[in-house]
Amino acid sequence: MPIHLTINTGKIYAVRSIQKSQSKAQGAKPEKRKAIGARFVLLRPAGYPLKSVFQEHPVVSDSKLFERYAQEQWYGEKLLSGSYLFDSRLYPDFAFQVVKVYPRHSVMGSQTTIKVEAKEEPKKTVVYDVSFDDVIGQETAKRKVKIVKRFLADPEKFGRWAPRNILFYGLSGTGKTMIAKALSAETGVPMLAVKSTSLIGEFVGEGARQIHSLYEKAAESAPCIIFIDELDAIALDRRYQDLRGDVSEIVNSLLTEMDGISNRKGICTIAATNQIEFLDASVRSRFEEEIEFKLPSQEERLIILEKNAATMPVAMQNVSLKEVARQTEGFSGRDLVEKVLKAALHHAIMDDCNITQRHLEETIARARKEYRQPPKEMFS
Ligand SMILES: Nc1ncnc2c1ncn2[C@@H]1O[C@H](COP(=O)(O)OP(=O)(O)OP(=O)(O)O)[C@@H](O)[C@H]1O
Ligand SMILES: [Mg+2]
Repeated sequence: MPIHLTINTGKIYAVRSIQKSQSKAQGAKPEKRKAIGARFVLLRPAGYPLKSVFQEHPVVSDSKLFERYAQEQWYGEKLLSGSYLFDSRLYPDFAFQVVKVYPRHSVMGSQTTIKVEAKEEPKKTVVYDVSFDDVIGQETAKRKVKIVKRFLADPEKFGRWAPRNILFYGLSGTGKTMIAKALSAETGVPMLAVKSTSLIGEFVGEGARQIHSLYEKAAESAPCIIFIDELDAIALDRRYQDLRGDVSEIVNSLLTEMDGISNRKGICTIAATNQIEFLDASVRSRFEEEIEFKLPSQEERLIILEKNAATMPVAMQNVSLKEVARQTEGFSGRDLVEKVLKAALHHAIMDDCNITQRHLEETIARARKEYRQPPKEMFS
């Protein structure tokens, strides 16, 4: 059936008029109607209609290039949610399913933004190789997390008493992600991890959809932990965020899931933030427990240094880690590992020698200078 397109490319929408000539045998009169070029379409690679061992599964290597290719190839094709588009060029008959199209009842246009769903990354459900013993200090956090541990071992028993939403807060590099991983490792329960920043997509509704499918996926593998890192990126108090429609949509979608309106069982949400004081009150109130992560004490710094130093590939010579611990007041666990030990190791390698006290003390001084300068206003 021939389709004649008269193209009138608007700023956002490519609006065309399609003259649809229906089969003459049916004696139908040509029907004239407007077709709207879609603004956005989400495609899911669906595979071939037939299976064989020789099949190649194409992967989109450059999304912009693919967009051009798809716009040209499927120009004027109706985009109905659930329908298929078949490649007829590089991978003949490889199908893409239309997952979402905006606006509805539109066609592929020259301005249509096309997004292809990424393959689900199985690594996200990996059970980690970290234990509670690896986390030095943070005793309160470990004690409180025991509740979650008990619940994940037997979610049925808890019923409505189940811990649902827990908030980890505190300075960066103090072990929040580590404890979440240890919880997953020690209970053998999978953890679905997501960074809030990755939920803020280009398209309205995308983040909200991701939240929904995250909880759906968790429900499939329940009991399950959902770990939402950098919560402040989406849930900043309205006074501090330049409120974008999609961000509040993500928060609303998160609130719905956290409230468990859909009554999902065996899922525990753990969120982490460095800025609890700026969190949106409606989000913050959903957490039944707020667990603070503190900077390590001198004794704890010494243990972190000793444990990590024992695994280093270059020997230490005449080093007093006790002295290093004494000099690193205010450093987090991550600072000690990354900025002190690792930097000293790298300098020792550059100097072709073992790690000495000088290497360590120089890196401490450098770390203090780079990262710990007080704000200028304090002294002005
Ligand atoms: N309490 C701790 N005990 C042992 N090692 C620690 C501790 N805290 C931090 N570390 C070290 O620092 C690294 C980073 O810690 P982690 O990722 O858990 O920090 P975080 O609190 O999640 O930080 P952010 O807020 O930046 O995400 C760990 O992999 C570990 O090497
Ligand atoms: Mg973290």
